[in-house]
This record gives sequence, structure tokens and C-alpha cells, in this order.
Amino acid sequence: LFAQNSEFLKGVVAMDGLPPADRLEVCFAGRSNVGKSTLINALTGRKGLARASNTPGRTQEINFFTLADLYLVDLPGYGYAKAPVKVVEKWQRLLKAYLSGRATLRRVFLLIDSRHGVKEVDQEIMKLLNSAAVTFQVVMTKTDKPKSSELDKILQGVREALAKHPAAYPEIILTSSEKGSGISTLRAAIARLASE
Ligand code: GTP
Ligand code: MG
Repeated sequence: LFAQNSEFLKGVVAMDGLPPADRLEVCFAGRSNVGKSTLINALTGRKGLARASNTPGRTQEINFFTLADLYLVDLPGYGYAKAPVKVVEKWQRLLKAYLSGRATLRRVFLLIDSRHGVKEVDQEIMKLLNSAAVTFQVVMTKTDKPKSSELDKILQGVREALAKHPAAYPEIILTSSEKGSGISTLRAAIARLASE
């Protein structure tokens, strides 16, 4: 699947701008700066495909990328408050509407920073996905950053959070876009969804 070329399709700022729900779709959600856009670039092998940056709040639209018969979707980060309140509220509303109301959304990859673990806003998104019965799977990002003892502790916290949510897919994928680790595992998970 990932041998094929991925292309940017469109950026969406309102629910009525979404492309027709005519194919399987997976999205990447998580707090600002967790590494969503960078992960999409690592997955597709195209460095500048999704715009990444060290400035939280980089991605401000729901960005659709085509990959064969699939949509990969890069979301704005949640829990970021530095933009004007009105703007943040608008993103959050759109994000929630999208996450709970997209019929073809097959799985949400919920990215968690390996240094920070599950935060309150992550719990909120887990609850939302759970009540919308949307399967989500945790992807740890930036595993190149913490010591392995720190990572173990963080992972324990993630497992505890997942245990509360039946919509959670139990396997946690550990990635580093920097080192390239875990990328093939995540590709395989997406390819499996696409072939089901
Ligand atoms: P928003 O669009 O603001 O929500 O952020 P995002 O989640 O898309 O994060 P983005 O991909 O823009 O990355 C944020 C920063 O984290 C960038 O400076 C990346 O280079 C860095 N980063 C992403 N993945 C990794 C990783 O695996 N390891 C390390 N060390 N840094 C990473
Ligand atoms: Mg981004």
C-alpha cells in the first residue's frame, strides 16, 4: 500500500467541506505538537507532504491525503490555547463533529507524546470516540526522547487509560519519526484495515 504515492487532496475548515464519504479513511489525532504531520510524512515517505513545525497549532485544517483507495487525514491538534479563543473553539467543534460523525472513519490513530503520556484532553477525546463507537488505537510518538524507564512508566498510564474505553484497540504502537522506528508496524496496521 505504502509503495504507492500519497497526494494532498484538500484542507477542510467546515463539515460541509468534507470530501464525499465514499472510501475508507483513517485519521491522526492528538495534542498540538505531538507529531501528527511528521508521522504522516514518515508513513508516506514524503517529507514535505504534511506541513510540520515546532510551533504548536501548525495544522489548522482537516487535511485529506489520498493513498491508493484510502484517505489519510491529518487533524489540527487539540488542547492548544495560544490561538485566538474564537478560532480554537471553532477548530475544536469541527474536530469533534468530524471525529464522531464520519461514517467511513475506520480507525483513529490517537497520538500520545512518549514524554508526556495521557493528558486530560486525551481522555476527553477517548470518551468522545468511545461514545461514538469509533475504534481508536494509541500511537506513541517521539520514543527517541524518553529514557526507557520513563517510557515504561508512561506506557503503564496509557494502558490504564485504555482499559476504561471499550472502543480502544489494545495494541499500542511505539514510533519515532526521527529514527524511523515503528513506522513499518503502523503501515502494516493501516494496510490490514485497507484489505479487510
Ligand atoms: P500541530 O499541527 O500543531 O497539531 O502539530 P503536529 O502534531 O502535527 O506536530 P508536528 O508533526 O508538526 O511536529 C511537532 C514537532 O515535533 C516538530 O518539531 C517535529 O520535528 C517534532 N517531532 C515529530 N516527531 C518526532 C519524533 O519522532 N522524534 C522527535 N525527536 N521529534 C519529533
Ligand atoms: Mg500538524
